[in-house]
Amino acid sequence: MQFNTQSLSQTSLTSLETSCLLLPIWQDEALSASAVSVNDALDGMIDAAINEDGFDAKLGATKVLFTASAIKAQRVILLGIGKRDKFSESNFTLAVAKVARAARQIKRDALALILPDAISVSALSNAATQGALMGLHVYTDFLSEDAKPFAVNQITILSDNENEAKAGIAEGQLIAAANLRVRHLVDTPSNLKSPQTLAADAEKIAKEHHLICEIWDEKRLQEERMGAFYGVGMGSANPPRLIRLEHCPAGLENDKPLVLVGKGVTYDTGGYSLKPSTSMDTMKDDMGGAAVVLAVMEAVGKAKPNRRIIGLIGSVENMVSDRAQRPGDIVCARNGKTIEVLNTDAEGRLVLADVLSLASELNPAAIIDLATLTGAIGIALGDEAAGLFSNDDALSKVLFEAGMQTGEKVWRFPMWEEYESHMKGKNTDLKNIGKERRAGSISAAIFLQNFVGKDIPWAHLDIAAVAYLREDTGLSQYGATGFGARLVWEAIQNY
Ligand code: BES
Ligand code: MN
Ligand code: ZN
Repeated sequence: MQFNTQSLSQTSLTSLETSCLLLPIWQDEALSASAVSVNDALDGMIDAAINEDGFDAKLGATKVLFTASAIKAQRVILLGIGKRDKFSESNFTLAVAKVARAARQIKRDALALILPDAISVSALSNAATQGALMGLHVYTDFLSEDAKPFAVNQITILSDNENEAKAGIAEGQLIAAANLRVRHLVDTPSNLKSPQTLAADAEKIAKEHHLICEIWDEKRLQEERMGAFYGVGMGSANPPRLIRLEHCPAGLENDKPLVLVGKGVTYDTGGYSLKPSTSMDTMKDDMGGAAVVLAVMEAVGKAKPNRRIIGLIGSVENMVSDRAQRPGDIVCARNGKTIEVLNTDAEGRLVLADVLSLASELNPAAIIDLATLTGAIGIALGDEAAGLFSNDDALSKVLFEAGMQTGEKVWRFPMWEEYESHMKGKNTDLKNIGKERRAGSISAAIFLQNFVGKDIPWAHLDIAAVAYLREDTGLSQYGATGFGARLVWEAIQNY
């Protein structure tokens, strides 16, 4: 999709040629100057929509007006942006996603969007760009041509500051591209993705954006004493891979890096502790954390911030075969801790154990891991937020605020010492499951903490319930949501 800018003050809205003009309307407020000029030219159609047809301008409400050649725009869509005191960037993103879909519905290929008088032109343009790109995205790889949705090709943003609008568009494109990259990776079915394909994706990203990339194969994983990670991969014909991507500006080689860690289980059958089929059918999403790390590292490669950032992904396929790990097996992680694998379906924490150990050896400024780790997190929070588990208040605050800012919300859980007993092994240091149906997400995080080096600020985001939805949301369609890329991008701007 192409984005343009145009000066609002130098444009006569009534002579603006576009297939569709998108006009924001505040709830319970007099019409803006732009809306008044369109309303006058259309003989009071906007007034009529509000006063007679029940258009209430609530956030995301839309109404199509046929202009019947009274103005040059072929259609006008009124876009409710709610009440001024509730307005935010993430709300505007949602509203634009809605109106972009409404425009697609009536087959408008070029849209002109007027920005409301609020916040700043750059923030609004950024939000609008994200909203349009995310709202219109559909996973079309396996749709026949005639089933593909109508393509909106062009969006022009009308504002009183074109330079700011351009900057906002560029930032919005960067962030939305990361979100869509995550969605595409997660929506890709597991007959087409594996630890190898993720590694190949990482190598390609590294090459394009001059990142350092290193891949460890299954042999190297054993040599590097990553026994917990290796054990999960034993049952699959697609062997495990550790992926490392690094952005390091010249001269900063000795700086403490920010390390992002992702769970990359490209399919989770549960292993011998097999999942029931009703919870297995979405398990291609079990690399959602890894997808976020890849996408954020790609954005880092494009934006090239002046700091060191490393992405680490543990990728593996959790399958059943004569070589697969058995419930009751005992493995030894890279940091020397022994683990009894009482349930092969609690595999994510086994993978992360070794990757977090490795991350801790990199003298990190902080570690943030993302993982589709537990079904229990959805019992606690539903689809509305990811679980946040952390040993550091400052890092937690940054992530919480990034969640409120982007709409990818997180909620912090306690990690009190009392929970440590849940994960203590009988004949080993640890076991990989806690108490049946008791604080499953917290005990998983407590398990992970055993592999994070002393005094390292660390945050774990459990995205199991938000990475993939079997319904349409404001910003995404059935399937992957891309949750995490916008959140982490925002957080690293502030940490
Ligand atoms: N990948 C799953 C968690 C998950 C559940 C992701 C739902 C996405 C949607 C994870 O590997 C898992 O199976 N966790 C188990 C842990 C249990 C065996 C302690 C779970 O949550 O049931
Ligand atoms: Mn599992
Ligand atoms: Zn899993």
